[in-house]
Amino acid sequence: MLAVGFRPRTIIEPFRVKVVEPLPRTTRAERAALLGRARYNLFAIRAAHVTIDLMTDSGTGAMSQEQWAAIMRGDESYAGSTSFFELEAVVRDLTGMRHVIPTHQGRAAERILFDALVGGAPGKIVPANTHFDTTRANVEAVGAEPRDLPLAEAHLPESEHPFKGNFDLVALRALLDEHAERVPAVVATVTNNSAGGQPVSLEHLRELRDLVDDYGVPLFLDCARFAENAHLVKLREPGQGERSTEEIAKEMFRLADGAWMSAKKDGLVNIGGFLALDDDALATRCRSALVLTEGFPTYGGLAGRDLAALAVGLREVLDEGYLDYRLASVRYLFEHLRERGVPLLGPPGGHAVYLDARRFLPHVPAAQLPGQSVAVALYLEAGIRTCEIGTAMFGHTLPDGTQATAPLELVRLALPRRVYTQSHVDYVAEAVGYVFERAGELGGYRIVDEPPALRHFTCGFERTGAA
Ligand code: F0G
Repeated sequence: MLAVGFRPRTIIEPFRVKVVEPLPRTTRAERAALLGRARYNLFAIRAAHVTIDLMTDSGTGAMSQEQWAAIMRGDESYAGSTSFFELEAVVRDLTGMRHVIPTHQGRAAERILFDALVGGAPGKIVPANTHFDTTRANVEAVGAEPRDLPLAEAHLPESEHPFKGNFDLVALRALLDEHAERVPAVVATVTNNSAGGQPVSLEHLRELRDLVDDYGVPLFLDCARFAENAHLVKLREPGQGERSTEEIAKEMFRLADGAWMSAKKDGLVNIGGFLALDDDALATRCRSALVLTEGFPTYGGLAGRDLAALAVGLREVLDEGYLDYRLASVRYLFEHLRERGVPLLGPPGGHAVYLDARRFLPHVPAAQLPGQSVAVALYLEAGIRTCEIGTAMFGHTLPDGTQATAPLELVRLALPRRVYTQSHVDYVAEAVGYVFERAGELGGYRIVDEPPALRHFTCGFERTGAA
């Protein structure tokens, strides 16, 4: 017998593989031709031509055997589906909220909620730590103004603040002091996707609760990645390490008046979402809107089997072995890239690693889309698909033809849940390192045609210089 038992430092994938899906392989010459045909827009590349797809962690995860078993048991009744009641019980237990309204994905919940909260009233303002793009668009669609009030550190890629998802509470208080009656809700996005998948601390959520109570304004969670947020709280927040992640998650929800979820992330499903509310009148308004475009309140745009898989996913996601592995895989990629000197947005968050394209390509000005250049190079060299989150996505072309640039030029490497193994991640780190060592050879891009809104999905690009 060994005197000291084995204490592994390697965090292994907490699953083994039962069904395999071949990875598409292409040659560099094929990828060069495909990029030309796609006009260098990675959204126009077919998945069959992508070897490692890090475009998003949304709806791209692998379900467990328990979820597939639940799919078989899904109850497809139009009204009163058993699968709905399974989901309702899980969401009530998690959130403490009585009304559970299923939607086909997060943005459907956003549309219904903001319509019900704002109802066409003029002059409303919705503050958030940072609105995700669809949240912003849905707030605007009902005539209200989305206002992002993140912590100052959120704009500093090199800051290692452990809770960069927090609000600037001074700015939020100032807004509420002046305009509380114009604010139908405050939104905390957990984790803060648009600011790098960074968590919001529990202490901060408690302060936020006290603050909104001073003004009688409700607090909503956009909780797409609530479990990753809760586990980052457990790992990083003083005093939280001894609690279970489930307990932390439950407290997060109990500090809010309502929540909506894109279940395609921490629901561990490929499609789904919900609204969880405690306000009877608001829930009635939301259910009426749901019936118009999503479906009857016990399925809300989903099949019974989708509801059943989500009920299982919401429990599985709080398994701390899974969450240790999940956060370790993000941290692993982050650390291997940092060792290679690759400039990153720190610290590692919950679902993705973000390259800082301004420092990656210091010779390419923001108006020449350095993030797009890095993303194209990663696809060309290694068949890896990532997503530019910078001026192509958030900038716009001014009347004189120049670019209004974004605050940050990032490239997001989002890790799908339970899909890629450590050797896939090693391959990604090697490829990014290879491109970074040769970054001086890369040039910029310009947009050659663009639609009026959400241009990054469909616009065409061309190179501004030789490379
Ligand atoms: N809220 C957050 C924080 C999100 O990240 C997303 C989606 C949504 C809401 C919208 O949910 O896609 O189910 O309608 N984020 C994806 C991404 C698309 O790639 O980060 P949805």
